[in-house]
Amino acid sequence: MSSYINTPVPDAHQYFPLNEPPIGSYLSLERERPALFQTLVLRGMKFKNRIFVSPMCQYSSDNGHATDWHLVHIGGFATRGVGAICMEATAVVPEGRIAPEDAGIWTDTQTEPLRRIVDFCHAQGTKIGIQLAHAGRKASTHAPWVQNKAGRGASHTASEQENGWPDNVYGPSNLAFSDKYPTPKAMTGQEMNDLESAFLSAINRCERAGFDFIELHAAHGYLFHSFVSPLSNVRDDEYGGQPLENRMRFPLRIVDACRKAWPDKPLFVRISASDWAEGPEQDEAGTWKQWGIEQSKIFTGELQKLGVDLVDCSSGGNWAKQTIPLKHGYQVHFAEALKRAHPTLAVGAVGLITDPLEAESYVKSGKADVVFLARELIRNPHWALHAAHKLGAKVKPANQYERGWW
Ligand SMILES: Cc1cc2nc3c(=O)[nH]c(=O)nc-3n(C[C@H](O)[C@H](O)[C@H](O)COP(=O)(O)O)c2cc1C
Repeated sequence: MSSYINTPVPDAHQYFPLNEPPIGSYLSLERERPALFQTLVLRGMKFKNRIFVSPMCQYSSDNGHATDWHLVHIGGFATRGVGAICMEATAVVPEGRIAPEDAGIWTDTQTEPLRRIVDFCHAQGTKIGIQLAHAGRKASTHAPWVQNKAGRGASHTASEQENGWPDNVYGPSNLAFSDKYPTPKAMTGQEMNDLESAFLSAINRCERAGFDFIELHAAHGYLFHSFVSPLSNVRDDEYGGQPLENRMRFPLRIVDACRKAWPDKPLFVRISASDWAEGPEQDEAGTWKQWGIEQSKIFTGELQKLGVDLVDCSSGGNWAKQTIPLKHGYQVHFAEALKRAHPTLAVGAVGLITDPLEAESYVKSGKADVVFLARELIRNPHWALHAAHKLGAKVKPANQYERGWW
């Protein structure tokens, strides 16, 4: 006689009902499988669909340690069908935080709360990664809702009384992002070496926490973006100035070291493909005036040569007077340009992607391999299942939530 039991997830740290197949997997065989629900394999790791949670700072960490807020926030996505989750910008050194309550991975005690979140996601059959970051010259600032309290036009800098470290902020050069931000110190060779060691220690902690992939943050005006852009890097040594090769040198050195320290699992890099500053990327004399898509294509090619598995293509954040023509999918053309230039590299598109049909068209037409969503997933953590519904596909909800869908 057959017996029916509520099968547990094998080897999980608590009892959880097993989802077979995992939540967010495509089920229906009658129709053509939508591109968003095709699996993706990167460095031998299988992702069950192409909908990824974009990293989102929560400004809610306890001296860099994840809390139950993070478990609930990230856990909510893990139970609702996304293909992968990238945890927020997580600083590899304390002075690399954007705001005082940012996530950190500079000390061993920060590993355990992350491991708890990773274990939960794994028990729900969802891949989880972490964005390793250094905020560079945009460090020591207020969390957004604190800044709102300070009012329009107020300084963004978190002072020492506000738990900030404005005198311990670093960048490629001593150029502030704006007069409302701290003035950074130009990093010395020794400080660059120390930061490389901090990234390697962080990778070791990621391994212990059990993360499936790592994303290095080289976008939004933070340290690595500020190194590659001629607007923020005016060094006169081999790590800066006009030659692109010099400006890329430090970020590429860190990527290379991280790749070697994290050889078996996927490594992503998030870049900004444009500074969105006024004027051209390069003038007629061939001088690079700002960071843009032409240099991004070259940078991406170098990242691929180093063994990066996916470039997550964002834009902006390095020029205080940027003007961004915001509309649905406004950054997708950058992802498409990178994909055209490097067809064998996986590329992620992000930015005002909210409509399932549009998202499907980006992946189906080959403009990007995956879509990253942030704000739409805040509004609707069940977006992947709604998208499946809109695309006429049957996708697995969590056992516990099936009655809401079927
Ligand atoms: C609350 C919030 C926090 C964010 N934190 C990060 C972050 O930690 N790292 C990062 O690369 N981008 C961060 N971003 C940017 C998003 O990942 C995403 O690129 C951006 O919001 C555009 O996508 P969307 O239109 O789907 O929101 C954040 C965005 C939001 C809304």
